Amino acid sequence: MKNFRFILLAMAACLGAVSCSDKAVKPAIPSDPQIERAVEKTLSQMTLEEKVGQMTEIGIDILGHYEGDNWVMDVDKVENAIGRYKVGSILNTPVVGQTPEKWQEIIGLIQEVSMRELGIPCVYGLDMNHGASYVMGATYFPQNINIGASFNPQLAYDAGVITAYESRASNCPWTYCPTVDLSRDPRWPRVWENYGEDALVNAVIGAASVRGLQGEDPNHVGPENIAVSVKHYMGYGHPRTGKDRTPAYIPESELREKCFAPFKACVEAGALTIMVNSASVNGVPVHANKELITDWLKEGLDWDGMVVTDWSDINNLYTREGVATDKKQAIEMAINAGIDMTMEPYDLEFCTLLIELVKEGRVSKARIDDAVRRVLRLKYRLGLFETPNTPLENYPKFGSEEFAQVATRAAEESEVLLKNVDGILPLKKGLKILVTGPNANSMRCLNGGWSYSWQGHLADRYTQQYNTIYEAVCNKFGKNNVVLEQGVTYVAEGGYEEENAPQIEKAVRAAAGADVILACIGENSYCETPGNLSDLALSENQRNLIKALAKTGKPIVMILNEGRPRIINDIEPLADAIIDILLPSNYGGDALANILAGDANPSAKLPYTYPRHQAALTNYDYRISEETDTMPGAYDYNAVVSVQWPFGYGLSYTTFEYSNFQCSTTEFGADTELVFTVDVKNTGDRAGKEVVMLYSRDMVASMVPENRRLRAFEKVEIQPGETATVTLKIKGSDLAFVNPQGEWTLEPGDFRMQAGNQTLMITCK
Ligand code: BGC
Repeated sequence: MKNFRFILLAMAACLGAVSCSDKAVKPAIPSDPQIERAVEKTLSQMTLEEKVGQMTEIGIDILGHYEGDNWVMDVDKVENAIGRYKVGSILNTPVVGQTPEKWQEIIGLIQEVSMRELGIPCVYGLDMNHGASYVMGATYFPQNINIGASFNPQLAYDAGVITAYESRASNCPWTYCPTVDLSRDPRWPRVWENYGEDALVNAVIGAASVRGLQGEDPNHVGPENIAVSVKHYMGYGHPRTGKDRTPAYIPESELREKCFAPFKACVEAGALTIMVNSASVNGVPVHANKELITDWLKEGLDWDGMVVTDWSDINNLYTREGVATDKKQAIEMAINAGIDMTMEPYDLEFCTLLIELVKEGRVSKARIDDAVRRVLRLKYRLGLFETPNTPLENYPKFGSEEFAQVATRAAEESEVLLKNVDGILPLKKGLKILVTGPNANSMRCLNGGWSYSWQGHLADRYTQQYNTIYEAVCNKFGKNNVVLEQGVTYVAEGGYEEENAPQIEKAVRAAAGADVILACIGENSYCETPGNLSDLALSENQRNLIKALAKTGKPIVMILNEGRPRIINDIEPLADAIIDILLPSNYGGDALANILAGDANPSAKLPYTYPRHQAALTNYDYRISEETDTMPGAYDYNAVVSVQWPFGYGLSYTTFEYSNFQCSTTEFGADTELVFTVDVKNTGDRAGKEVVMLYSRDMVASMVPENRRLRAFEKVEIQPGETATVTLKIKGSDLAFVNPQGEWTLEPGDFRMQAGNQTLMITCK
């Protein structure tokens, strides 16, 4: 046993070493004296009504109406919200996305009224979750789960840069992303919105996204960048029921070590705002949790950014969570916990009630001033006082081919090759291909939620210029070689799980004339609670389709197009090849065709554990006892981890061989820099990219250690026959864990380190 331990005070590189009582060594965002002076001056001139208005965000739905397909703003309602209630922020799209010209008109009007009535600009916010995804004609990137699968932070950065540019082209300065929840439960309908189940992957890729979206100077976000709202702080991805917005119970150690880490990394990358988790953690709704919002986030990280609620979540404290008796008490709880802005979104009673609470002394004036400072600081940092509008003509690259190419590369790097028996892929030219399955000819399926509309269900109306899988395969392999017979289809624009009566026989007949079957199955688009499920198995119709097609004896290339890993253990053996394209969006069909033809070499890895069985849901960093099979004597533990594919799994058309794994030292302390090197040789005959991952295992610890933890990763391109020496650096303190008292702890003892099939031991002294 290790015989002593010490508490780390230093901050580790990514998974930081702060405990509840720790203070950040320096402010997360250095304050700019000029901005602070401007904030104080504006604040000093504001009435209580104006201050409370700045803390209020309402939805656009209550400020206009549709005339046919044309959204029309009701100017009197805008005047009322901003003129009378002094509202400082507006969000959302009216049901569907709008053209950049329309956004210019909508937000332009709001800014005109705000500057005239308040002299303070409005901060408009949209869910630009994978590109400017509420803007028609913008460049849509693969969803975040794909970016996680790429294990390439540069893609997140590049996507961020383009998303910010196209958002500003639409006059929108603020977005509610990146999402860095950890998808610890495959049932959860929001698995695809973040970068997967691991804290480090979410931290590294989330931080890259923040820098891409906001730029490098959070005090001066230029007209080609936008403010982020990192979400959903925190513990959202571990619901006990697997359903959206339901309670999570997470030990303090895991909360700090895993859930907090990505938010900390994003804050250190300059994130200006953070959105709070709708649900409760350990019995306390996060919106009412002062410890998490004020102590850990604002004070712990010395962060002067702004905290916004999620949708109607102050109201949910009394309507859903049962921790407040009425709306007024709910507001009191949330504002005192540290909420700065409420996403109301449908009425303005918040303003009246918060003013009453201040007058009654239930919310202090100091708390109001603190919140309003944070709102104003955001607006100054965004340059909105000087430049409330960013005209479309300043953004000539909106929707350009240059941007489309970046999105196509991102899709290619994010589609995961999971099986390739006898090298059936890439497909030979000239083969007759049957394209089948409900996901074969749908842009909605490729995109997923947050695409043109919240549920993504209208996407096929707005995506004529992009290629479905079927269209992309026709373009690549020649229309004459390709037949479409879907066998199973979804109800157009219906709920995600709604399927039409299957016509499997038709697909089976069509298979007679084919050399290979491309079976495109998975899920239709959904988002949040409407995506809840009670059965993780893939739909029965779809599994029956594969089983029937398998009887033809024709080889099956199975394409999984799904937001979360649906169980396929009965049909996986029937496929010769499998690619999980996840949700690759508008260029995902083209990217897949490139992979099928061998014009692109797959390099993605699963960002989560793909379960094999309904009752065996686990994460890669499980405890060793979860894999204890038998022991001598009467007991048979029968605890075996059985997964379809592990976290980090993914094939390439080439092969890589690892050797010569070394560490700069065999003994270390908290401050030691550990430099690992490993040689990776491309032993195949084509260039390929490999994700080199460094794992650790704490051999003996005072708290049950995980079987392994990802500590660093790096994606490298290697030419055939060449060897790359890959360097991965961590600090000794990165191997610490959080003890039951919430303290970062590094104990002496052995750690087994692993890269590929190579291992070595190092010892903490
Ligand atoms: C979602 C958030 C989103 C917000 C605004 C909520 O329902 O949980 O992720 O940013 O709506 O659209």
